[in-house]
Amino acid sequence: MSGGHAGMDNGHAQTAQKLPICTPLPGNRSGGHAGMDSHVRAALRRLADTPRFPLLCGPTPLQRMERLEQALGCGPLYVKRDDLTPLGMGGNKTRKLEFLVADALANGADTLVTVGGVQTNHGRLTAAAAAKAGLACTLVLEGTRPALPSGNLLLDCLLNAALVFTDGAPVQAVIDRTLRDLAAAGKTPYFIPEGGSNAVGSAGYLALIPELMQQLAALPEPPQHLVCAMGSLGTFTGLWGGARAFGAPFSVTGIAVNPNTSYTPERAAALARDLSDAYHLALSPDPAEMEIVYADGTHDYAGTGYNVPDEKTRAAVLLLARTEGIFLDPCYTAKAFRGFCALAQKRPGGAVFLHTGGTPALWTEEHFSAFAAQLWQA
Ligand SMILES: Cc1ncc(COP(=O)(O)O)c(C=O)c1O
Repeated sequence: MSGGHAGMDNGHAQTAQKLPICTPLPGNRSGGHAGMDSHVRAALRRLADTPRFPLLCGPTPLQRMERLEQALGCGPLYVKRDDLTPLGMGGNKTRKLEFLVADALANGADTLVTVGGVQTNHGRLTAAAAAKAGLACTLVLEGTRPALPSGNLLLDCLLNAALVFTDGAPVQAVIDRTLRDLAAAGKTPYFIPEGGSNAVGSAGYLALIPELMQQLAALPEPPQHLVCAMGSLGTFTGLWGGARAFGAPFSVTGIAVNPNTSYTPERAAALARDLSDAYHLALSPDPAEMEIVYADGTHDYAGTGYNVPDEKTRAAVLLLARTEGIFLDPCYTAKAFRGFCALAQKRPGGAVFLHTGGTPALWTEEHFSAFAAQLWQA
């Protein structure tokens, strides 16, 4: 089985459905169909039996980065292009939203509600998924309404999302009020937590692992490390759980993009436990096993603040653009990419960078003006 989703649009309104999951070939514990542990088979069956709302269109590309290998003096280096998922300019939330939208539909919801920073990629993709599913969408945005809708905000408007700015009020109070108001107006809202990072959404990244294992199995020299950005934990934790459950022959490292994050290894372990319970993965996650690189005295991958422009992050954007013609974003992926380059140079065996999208951030007011000041001299 190729494992691609039945993602062809046939012109009819899409509904949630059971979609195939790739077979993880070969792994330490799975070893292909014949030698596959019964609990691996059971986990794959549970994933395949969980309805998804189709938003992907088959596996995302895995590309070699030979010019980057030359620049860094190590390899083999690959990029897994989750920035190229087909919905709403792409990104990692698409995989989570396949599960979340299906759950919303199963619960009779007519409105998706979620929360994030003013420039949230997750909000933009939630609004896009809502449009595709024929649902309404309300985004609770932590901050004040800017004079102009740059970056993701313009896309949110194009997608007809209702925007509620917190304007200094406690976020949870604004979420509660928004849900109450929608219910009072006769709507049935479905709330998605920040980043879609609960056990429902993170299953999207559990399911990426068999897909990636199948792609790596075809390579003469499969890389031994996988690196991703860590914002609200769902992507990293899904990957971590999948790698453990399916016996992936590579390590998983998350790079924190916020130097003041509250998303601790303890929270990662708790989410991994929820995933393990939901899909019967038989994992016993320990916070000490969560390889998340947080800001400390030894490096500054996370920069000076969440979504704050800085020169080293911009240099990472330029490096990948000018070696491979691939755009990173200055809020998430460029920070993770700095960690990826350092890890690839330090550890032998080659590495895969999971590109999680976010490129509309290049056109937000703060990052656009920082790049312009650097690159647009008269
Ligand atoms: C572009 C991009 N990359 C990475 C992440 C981090 O993913 P997670 O929140 O699942 O840790 C996000 C989260 O919003 C994102 O927008």
